[in-house]
Amino acid sequence: MPRTNSSQAMRKKLEQAATKVMKNAHAPYSKFRVGAAIMLKNGRVFSGCNVENASYGMTNCAERTAIFTAVAELGPKIEIQAVAVTNDRGMACSPCGACRQVIYEFGPNATVFFQGVDGPKQAHITELLPEGFRFE
Ligand code: THU
Repeated sequence: MPRTNSSQAMRKKLEQAATKVMKNAHAPYSKFRVGAAIMLKNGRVFSGCNVENASYGMTNCAERTAIFTAVAELGPKIEIQAVAVTNDRGMACSPCGACRQVIYEFGPNATVFFQGVDGPKQAHITELLPEGFRFE
């Protein structure tokens, strides 16, 4: 029970941070605003939004914006404990394949909170990305 409570408390805190930063999204093409927040092992929280580009493929998802912001601030020795993703339509939205690989790079043991097709879900990153790639 305490475990569940702390996991739900973390989810709430991260969703609040994600929803706040979502307002800064640059999403004129999809009109789909996304926010993400990560909690590091040291308790620090970083957030990010999607940043689109007229050359669509250059778009950066909210999850990667949050992670790259943390690396820029603290350096590469961060470990992600949890990630939450929110969007402005309350739509099902799990991290894309590219973001799963980036989450795995900095959080091989991370929990991901997202809106699934049947409601709120949480999953271990290795459930979302089996056999993720890393240099050992
Ligand atoms: N997007 C994210 O930022 N995160 C996700 O988990 C799914 C998709 C963004 C990318 C693009 O700006 C818009 O949502 C539509 O794909």
